[in-house]
Amino acid sequence: MAHRFATIAAHAGRLSSQAGEPVTPPISLSTTFLQTGPGEQREHAYSRVSNPSRDALERSLSTLEGGSSASVFSSGCAAMHAVLQLLSPGEQLVACGDIYGGTYRLVEQLVRPMGVDVAWVDMWDLAAVQAAIEDRSKMVWIETPTNPLLRVFDIEAIADLARARGAWTVVDSTFATPMLQRPLQMGADLVVHSMSKYLNGHSDVVAGVVISQRAELADRLRFIQRAGGAVPSPFDCYLVARGVKTLPIRMTRHCENAQALAEWLRTQNGVAAVHYPGLEDHPQHGLAARQMSGFGGMLSFELEGGAQRSKTLLERVRLFSLAESLGGVESLIGQPALMSHASMPEHVREAQGIRGGLIRLSVGLEDIEDLREDLEQALLAP
Ligand SMILES: Cc1ncc(COP(=O)(O)O)c(C=O)c1O
Repeated sequence: MAHRFATIAAHAGRLSSQAGEPVTPPISLSTTFLQTGPGEQREHAYSRVSNPSRDALERSLSTLEGGSSASVFSSGCAAMHAVLQLLSPGEQLVACGDIYGGTYRLVEQLVRPMGVDVAWVDMWDLAAVQAAIEDRSKMVWIETPTNPLLRVFDIEAIADLARARGAWTVVDSTFATPMLQRPLQMGADLVVHSMSKYLNGHSDVVAGVVISQRAELADRLRFIQRAGGAVPSPFDCYLVARGVKTLPIRMTRHCENAQALAEWLRTQNGVAAVHYPGLEDHPQHGLAARQMSGFGGMLSFELEGGAQRSKTLLERVRLFSLAESLGGVESLIGQPALMSHASMPEHVREAQGIRGGLIRLSVGLEDIEDLREDLEQALLAP
């Protein structure tokens, strides 16, 4: 019987349904496994290649995302790097310009120097995407919703354009999670997540995953995983599987709190703009409503008075924690230009609209009144 999302999530990491087997799986810490003879092994031989705790997590993630295979890595960046290693010198990567700063750095400083050509494109403009995809384009990279401006790109339309020219489509779906968005069902070839964010959800694991429904890509990614060796520990796999069990209920609350905070923020004096796809005047609200089943827990906003005013607000908050990252149970606040996007050159940030005064919130699971009161007292400060 095919189960639904919350049911699959609640059983994440389960190793077996046999009577007598533990309901909560043990963490399989052994690096190595007894063999039946030299060169003859059962399921596992060495934990860089495969491990019971890792396999169980990969199975759950693949099912949740609607894929046929998942490979987990020791960070979201390691997962993205594995995907980018599918490219060869002379091929082209077409990627959205509004993107996580670490992805920009990875592409510009590790992938381009390997001889891969890169075209950064404004992906809300489908004509620009079509014009950018050439015969040598092998991969189209979409991050949606984007970090930090919460833009939303049309996965189905872009995947159609890529397929028509023989290119793969990759979606970084970290902000949405498989709970809110299923890129493989919209024509994407690969989905990547930083599991350090919502999938684990408790700000205590750094890890990443790539999910595929194409056997040849899955095989190549498995090879990169075992040959490159950037794998998460069994303990980290256990923690992520534990986090995934509550993903549906956490995401529901993240979405509710973020929506309420976005609507409240836009009524406040001194707030110049609020970026959240759940707001009706967000430029891609209609697309987000079609493509996602919720608008997520991330939002960003700008204050009149720019960077200095924002710095004051960040110093005044008491409940929001001033910290990198996102997607945990606790609310975080940050200034992307100085934090998550510091590795992006200033002129690139400015061209994307990531101004010095932009503030990003990862809205957690606290009581909404407490979050609002905290921002209110920080906004009122002279
Ligand atoms: C959208 C997005 N993708 C990928 C990453 C990289 O993930 P990690 O920090 O796990 O390497 C991040 C990190 O913030 C992110 O926000």
